[in-house]
Amino acid sequence: MFERADEVVIDRAKNRHFAFGSGIHRCLGSNLARMEIRVAVETFLERIPTFALADPSAVRWNGGQVRGPRCVPIRS
Ligand code: HEM
Repeated sequence: MFERADEVVIDRAKNRHFAFGSGIHRCLGSNLARMEIRVAVETFLERIPTFALADPSAVRWNGGQVRGPRCVPIRS
């Protein structure tokens, strides 16, 4: 479905994801959630503009329905 699916492409133009559900029944808070993530990413990048994974094998993920990174050690 996605080109370069294993990369973070923050301005991905073709982006038909299901994160907020789809169709007639979808997340009521999607616009608030998008604003929150924008503020979080902007604040992070202001404070830590340059960073890299300290140890890719140390990244830990949540399982279950809400998938995402739980622990991402970085170095700046
Ligand atoms: C990244 C953050 C979020 C994600 C990934 C997310 C995802 C989802 C998903 C997948 C659904 C189910 C849609 C369906 O039934 O098909 C949903 C429903 C819902 N979400 Fe979110 N959500 C997020 C943040 C929020 C926030 C911040 C709020 C409110 C402050 C919110 C309020 C709701 C409500 C009220 C529903 C139920 C809508 C309904 O049943 O009609 N969500 N969300």
